[in-house]
Amino acid sequence: MRTTSTSARSLAVLLLIGAAGCEPADDKADQGGEAEGADGAEGGAGDGADGDETGGPAPTWHGDVAPLYVRSCQTCHEAGGVGSPTWTGPDDIATWGPAIAVAVGSRAMPPWQASSDCNTYEGDFSLNDDEVDTIVRWAEGGAALGDPDTAAALPEPFQPEVLERVDLVLEMPDAYTPNNASGPDDYRCMLLDWPYDTDVWVEGYQIRAGDPSTVHHVIPFIIAPGDVDEYRALDAADPDPGYTCYGGPGGDVETLISTRWLGSWAPGSGAGISPDGTGIRVSPGSMIAFQVHYNVTMPDPGPDQSAIELMISTERKGWADIQPWTEVSWVLGAGMDIPAETDDVEHVFEYTLGRSDSFSFYTAAVHMHTMGKRARMTVVHEDGTETCLVDYQNYDFNWQRSYKLREPVTVQSGDTLKLTCAWDNPTTEDVAWGDGTGDEMCLGISLISE
Ligand code: HEC
Repeated sequence: MRTTSTSARSLAVLLLIGAAGCEPADDKADQGGEAEGADGAEGGAGDGADGDETGGPAPTWHGDVAPLYVRSCQTCHEAGGVGSPTWTGPDDIATWGPAIAVAVGSRAMPPWQASSDCNTYEGDFSLNDDEVDTIVRWAEGGAALGDPDTAAALPEPFQPEVLERVDLVLEMPDAYTPNNASGPDDYRCMLLDWPYDTDVWVEGYQIRAGDPSTVHHVIPFIIAPGDVDEYRALDAADPDPGYTCYGGPGGDVETLISTRWLGSWAPGSGAGISPDGTGIRVSPGSMIAFQVHYNVTMPDPGPDQSAIELMISTERKGWADIQPWTEVSWVLGAGMDIPAETDDVEHVFEYTLGRSDSFSFYTAAVHMHTMGKRARMTVVHEDGTETCLVDYQNYDFNWQRSYKLREPVTVQSGDTLKLTCAWDNPTTEDVAWGDGTGDEMCLGISLISE
């Protein structure tokens, strides 16, 4: 099944997607692993980690695995990292051999989904097929340490980007203890006052998770001055700090039209930084709706008071914006049908840039929900050549992040943005666009700038 449609870009409705949301972390391991395993089997992936077939000597930690670990795992899994478990050294890691074999073999770890056949990205910590195979054979073959005297040279661990300065820190006004009475997930929006009385340009932001063991993702939304009262009313109506929100910051459709994303954060994401000389403009009287998805796997979670650090210019900067892309009619309920019990249902959105459109893509991401199977965002240039922005061959809802292109992709009038999504719908219900967990989306998200 395939439909193609073209329509004018609209910032508006796109913002409904707010919940670049995620699943519970425990589901994550389960679902992610299952889904990926199944997809791999279906695709007949040639990377099946069958140690015997390769015939080479069994890999060892010092000889083969340590460099891969340092490059692709260590930053998250060492003490103080965002991963769980955290490891103290090779002996400790080796005891996790079976779990590592599963996590890496299923490609749930490392959590990087953008195919390197499509483009190259900053901070890429993915593993290629051979590297996956090496780790899996090592882990399955007893996780031998080998000889430290002949150890392979170690690369630099990847480091998430950091802000070069912090001009403003906005913290949640009150600590909030996530509520796990009705399941592991609690989506909460907190309003943060915007202190400037002139236009300013946000050059970069960094999320500081107060309690990293419960904070699963954060999306700061910029609420336009005219909508602030509506959001204050939502907050006032809820006795606890903030208010519940899922598919976005919680306002009605009209206010969503004027709501913009300031960024998004998931474990392992660094700072979000606009291209040199640019920033996301924020007007006085705006407010930040700070959406936190808590995933609570422990019985008695502690309070969280997360914050956003901002690098701000009060002097005029070039424009940058986080642009959502999708087919407006899908959002309004038409044309993105995913019938019950169907596999690989594909829908395509194409938008040809108009006369005044000329800008560059700096990041790319596609957002779907849990039925999402594969997705791709490309630019088809007027001369027929195509530049791939991001390609998910095995989409996993649980690891939403955006991928920063090493080289920005410049587009102009006549170029066509093409967004393709495909889903498997194993349920007995037809599915369409919606912001609930059982609904689906197909949304490209990109930082664009002049
Ligand atoms: C961007 C951060 C990040 C990177 C890089 C990363 N991990 Fe993880 N890892 C996590 C997080 C967070 C979890 C906790 C489970 C979850 O949220 O899915 C996890 C969980 C795991 C688990 C436990 C899964 C289970 O069964 O509970 C294993 C094993 C693992 N990672 C191995 C690895 C290995 C091996 C690498 C490198 C090849 C790696 N990870 C790279 C963040 C990361």
